[in-house]
Amino acid sequence: MAGNRLALITGASAGIGAEFARQYAAKGWDVALTARRLDRLDGLAREIEEKYKVSAMTISQDLARDGAADTILHELKEAGRHVDALVNNAGYGLPGTFFNTSWKEQADFIRVLYTVPIELTHKLLPGMAERDFGRIINVASLAGYAPGSSGHTLYASVKAGLIKFSESVHAEAETAGHDIHCTALCPGFTWTEFHDVNGTREMTNESPEWMWMEAAPVVKAGLEGVARGQPVVVPGMVNKGVATLTRILPEPVGRAIMKKQGKRFRKVD
Ligand SMILES: NC(=O)c1ccc[n+]([C@@H]2O[C@H](COP(=O)([O-])OP(=O)(O)OC[C@H]3O[C@@H](n4cnc5c(N)ncnc54)[C@H](OP(=O)(O)O)[C@@H]3O)[C@@H](O)[C@H]2O)c1
Repeated sequence: MAGNRLALITGASAGIGAEFARQYAAKGWDVALTARRLDRLDGLAREIEEKYKVSAMTISQDLARDGAADTILHELKEAGRHVDALVNNAGYGLPGTFFNTSWKEQADFIRVLYTVPIELTHKLLPGMAERDFGRIINVASLAGYAPGSSGHTLYASVKAGLIKFSESVHAEAETAGHDIHCTALCPGFTWTEFHDVNGTREMTNESPEWMWMEAAPVVKAGLEGVARGQPVVVPGMVNKGVATLTRILPEPVGRAIMKKQGKRFRKVD
């Protein structure tokens, strides 16, 4: 399969990441899949190779572990592959507040959702610049637009940071004249394992159906956005409406709404 472009996708064992793998493969790209659960990754790799006739490699790695990004990049180098597209997608919600969570939990969270995406981008950009081609998608969240809430303390901060980071990298690549696009994808409620993993499924099931999207259209919007060089993509009409509201509402009103609504999807204990 030599000659195909390669997409490295973190958090590819489930949800949005697995869907990115399928949609890249459907476009004829090879994929490198990473997450902790190797059995899941291997199953997806087999499915993708059979269905799309591209190559799929798997790298089991806990991104909270020191040196995880380097290990992933080393494995790719050993396999003789360079990365044409990076999808920083791995993530989770950390229930609780800053009062009742440990520093280790918070530090791991920052590493998995913020430091590693930035590190992978930093380490892959020089090669992308040399080859004058790169596509980077940072899976952020609509939460990055909304005011901070009680519970899941750093989630909104980290996702807001990823949005700004993506805009900056995109602008820098554009200024340098490289064919490198960097996009923050900001989904709202999406049907994946996310809310099962963070224990908020029962709470979020109370949210109306129309607020939810399947992973497939979320990913499709991300791929279309990065292809056309859009620094931020908010998928779906409902999410677009919410993002617009967060920009036009007076800040105290936004915070008051978040205070009330946050109780419906943020777990504080
Ligand atoms: N679902 C939503 O409503 C929603 C909304 C907005 C944004 N997002 C964002 O979308 C991204 C993907 O989430 P999802 O909804 O697809 O959730 P998901 O179905 O739970 O998938 C999360 C992925 O992240 C991986 N992951 C988690 N911790 C990891 C670690 N320490 N090291 C390596 N991989 C790790 C998981 O793999 P392993 O467990 O196998 O390691 C899994 O592949 C996240 O960044 C999330 O914040 C989701």
